[in-house]
Amino acid sequence: MPNHQIPATTTDAGIPVPSDGDSLTVGPDGPILLQDHYLIEQMANFNRERIPERQPHAKGGGAFGRFETTGDVSAYTRAAVFQPGTTTEALARFSTVAGERGSPDTWRDPRGFAIKLYTSEGNLDIVGNNVPIFFIRDPLKFQHFIRSQKRRLDNNLRDNNMQWDFWTLVPESAHMLSWLMGDRGIPKTWRHMNGYGSHTYSWINADGDIFWVKYHFITNQGIEFLTQAEADHLAGANGDVHQQDLFESIERGDHPSWTLKVQIMPFEEAKTYRFNPFDLTKVWPHADYPLIDVGTLTLDRNVSDYHTEMEQAAFEPNNHVPGTGLSPDKMLLARGFSYSDAHRARLGVNYRQIPVNKPKTQVHSYSKDGAMRMENAKDPVYAPNSYGGPQADPARAAEVRWAVDGEMTRAAYTLRAEDDDYGQARTLVREVLDEAARDRLVSNVVGHVLGGVREPVLSRVFEYWANIDPEIGKRIEEGVRSGQKD
Ligand code: NDP
Ligand code: HEM
Repeated sequence: MPNHQIPATTTDAGIPVPSDGDSLTVGPDGPILLQDHYLIEQMANFNRERIPERQPHAKGGGAFGRFETTGDVSAYTRAAVFQPGTTTEALARFSTVAGERGSPDTWRDPRGFAIKLYTSEGNLDIVGNNVPIFFIRDPLKFQHFIRSQKRRLDNNLRDNNMQWDFWTLVPESAHMLSWLMGDRGIPKTWRHMNGYGSHTYSWINADGDIFWVKYHFITNQGIEFLTQAEADHLAGANGDVHQQDLFESIERGDHPSWTLKVQIMPFEEAKTYRFNPFDLTKVWPHADYPLIDVGTLTLDRNVSDYHTEMEQAAFEPNNHVPGTGLSPDKMLLARGFSYSDAHRARLGVNYRQIPVNKPKTQVHSYSKDGAMRMENAKDPVYAPNSYGGPQADPARAAEVRWAVDGEMTRAAYTLRAEDDDYGQARTLVREVLDEAARDRLVSNVVGHVLGGVREPVLSRVFEYWANIDPEIGKRIEEGVRSGQKD
């Protein structure tokens, strides 16, 4: 007997279907009929369920929430979202980088920390990692870097030798590697890690003054990590442990939060600062630029359809609202193109009309048509026009601009007084890590290198770590040599 309390099954066209389980056949033992369009709809839909996964950062999850501005940074930015007392809807997605969609959450890898703020002036996306720096400082190396982290062509395996080959040939990776091989390379959960915008971004205030800014989302749950052994065990026992932890903690009302703090550098100081402030392999030491409180990000609502709200979520560093902007960081400028290109390829040209990506503001753009357009565009379809179409308002856009001059070249950033590849890595290893954390760093590197690194890469690994810190380099070499003998 049908249960009238629950809805009757329909086709995707809303038409009630006659059966959930029996195809239309000629007699119980006869052939299936082509006019069973519901059977065909079910098979066809199933065959098209998967969309391409993100190229990097394929495995991840997240939740909705809110960002509340509690501090006063109005002297630095006119962005409405960062004015005191403003609350803004938010979306967060956390991810690993190299693994595919089904890969374990606990592989050693940086974690993506992507935030979308649905502000009253359009969407602001801060697409960062749980690390304040990165492996490379030029976007032309990015594709090669990611390939070295993914799978070989011949045996379809990830390959530690390939990873160390790239890293040791690109010594600007040393700071990031010292971080990745340390405790923070495997967070206990997504709730127990910080997020960093990593790049230098720009802010502009109501008077038109420009500032350089770095975003730090500091976890209010405290930093916690997994040891390599714990992570290896979990990779087999529960590959989705971080996804599960976030979902269940929000379900039980334990809403994770992060305090957003910023470092602010006045525009002119960037010209003479001792490190190139746009080099993504460097931090700005706290002593030079202390953290200033902005507000709190809280996640309090799980997604109800992972595909619609997470797999189709499109984060893009080019989404900047008035009062915020990019900077001369070459990596950031390239990312400003790459993500929207990836979304067009992965989700289609009208990806911003998918509800999770839609701004909460009204859209008055001149885009039209294209596959899967959901919303009607409006005449006139060109600008300028005499018929009341939207008109750009430079004052409202508050675009951040800076002066540039010079001949075209292909070169690394001009070095500043303290710019080198190893200095900040050395500070991290020697001054920030304690003895026990240094022991774990050595043990993690030794274990990783013993997982297949061979000459000529192996000798370069020892040299690389000796350049960071001779003592650590020596311990790593001894550890690997004795491991090889066993
Ligand atoms: P500080 O002593 O002021 O800051 C050191 C920071 O290191 C801490 O505030 C903490 O950042 C972070 N940290 C603590 N333990 C670890 C760990 N096990 N692995 C990685 N990071 C850790 O020094 P400086 O600002 O002068 O920076 C010194 C070094 O610290 C840098 O070379 C860099 O490697 C690292 N660092 C610097 C950051 C910055 O923005 N200045 C941010 C993070 C690390 P947090 O509070 O963000 O957790
Ligand atoms: C995802 C490119 C550097 C953080 C992606 C994606 C691409 C990409 C194509 C997949 C996007 C999608 O399909 O949705 C690049 C390029 C880089 C770069 C070209 C350098 C030139 C960085 C850096 C960070 C970062 C430096 C962090 C500071 C992320 C995050 C995601 C991502 C968090 C996942 C976003 C999500 O959750 O959907 N990147 N990336 N990337 N990248 Fe990058």
